[in-house]
Amino acid sequence: MRTKAAVLHDFNTPLAIDEVELQEPKANEVSVKMVSSGVCHSDLHLVQGHIPVNLPIICGHEGAGIVTAVGPGPSTVQVGDRVVLSWVSPCGNCNYCATGNPALCVTAIGPSYEGQLHDGTSRFSDLEGTTISHHLMLSTFSQEVTVPASAAIRVPEDVPLAPLAVIGCAVSTGIGAVVNTGNVQLGDSVAVIGCGGVGLNALQGARLRGAGKIIGVDVNEEKLEAARRFGATHTVNAAEEDTAEALIAMTGGMGVDLAVEAIGHPQTVATAVRSLRRGGTAVQVGIAPYGTEVSIDMTLLLDERKLLGCYYGSLRPAFDIPRYVDLYRAGKLLVEELITAEIEQDEINGALNQFERGEGIRSLVRYS
Ligand code: APR
Ligand code: ZN
Ligand code: ZN
Repeated sequence: MRTKAAVLHDFNTPLAIDEVELQEPKANEVSVKMVSSGVCHSDLHLVQGHIPVNLPIICGHEGAGIVTAVGPGPSTVQVGDRVVLSWVSPCGNCNYCATGNPALCVTAIGPSYEGQLHDGTSRFSDLEGTTISHHLMLSTFSQEVTVPASAAIRVPEDVPLAPLAVIGCAVSTGIGAVVNTGNVQLGDSVAVIGCGGVGLNALQGARLRGAGKIIGVDVNEEKLEAARRFGATHTVNAAEEDTAEALIAMTGGMGVDLAVEAIGHPQTVATAVRSLRRGGTAVQVGIAPYGTEVSIDMTLLLDERKLLGCYYGSLRPAFDIPRYVDLYRAGKLLVEELITAEIEQDEINGALNQFERGEGIRSLVRYS
């Protein structure tokens, strides 16, 4: 079938809205008519060439929609199901999947980074027949997509579908970083450095898990205001104060139990480690251009401070995403509050540029 998608042809150029060809789902795949897609800072990283991918590629990895076709054979989802898409599509069988770490699925990672689905091919091509890459097996900047069935997480009928798109990345990554990767404990002091879409969710993850002092750190006063709405009990303006000194002072000279870096700068990763108490844990969520190195005083590690990497909030998509939807339905998880603009598909370039200016939290593409 033909559909319309925002395609990246060359790095550092605007996405083009092209007519593209989309193939039917094969076994263990489904097609989804997108209802909405969030625009994430990682999409901008992709456009800027910070993440190696095969061009052309259809960006977008945060979306919600309705299943329109199911590949041959048994399927976990059916035509008509309302789904949130996960940008890791676990195989269910590899060592990582079998041991409860599906975010690290070793079967998915290769084809996912090549722009393919699990069988090593893409379902997208241009009208001349040239292959177009999927982004993380999804490509939610297309009006219709064909994705692995394990990417499509069914959600109940009685929840508004469009806002749930942001659960697919911002919510899952941010909450997962604190709850799954960081394993925050009741009463812990938690600092979140960078209060954009991901950081705000790290803050609300800390709130939901019963953290004690929850400190939002940003250079932008508007983001600090948002941080307080999402659960921060205290804030630090990093443009005015030294972050590590402020955090250590706010915790009685100890340092925080858990620090999350949600920007992607080597300096703020080092700051996160410097802000920890002895034995504390830093979780790095932000993405930097591949090859970026971090410099840390080894003495800090001697005191058993830990720096943990974090891929997709150590998410177990089929387990965690339905729980986040339930928490939203129960009024405990802020989701609509993340969406600062609703836009058309041809306005995605403008939404990507907003990240560079620090404007807004999440723009939500609405498909008709
Ligand atoms: N100190 C504190 N805050 C900063 C600093 C700094 N030196 N520099 C930038 N920030 C803040 C920005 O003001 C912004 O609020 O970090 C926040 C980053 O948020 P977004 O640009 O909205 O990005 P987001 O979508 O939240 O993603 C954050 O996680 O998944 C990755 O690729 C993603 O690297 C990105 C990071
Ligand atoms: Zn994202
Ligand atoms: Zn696997």
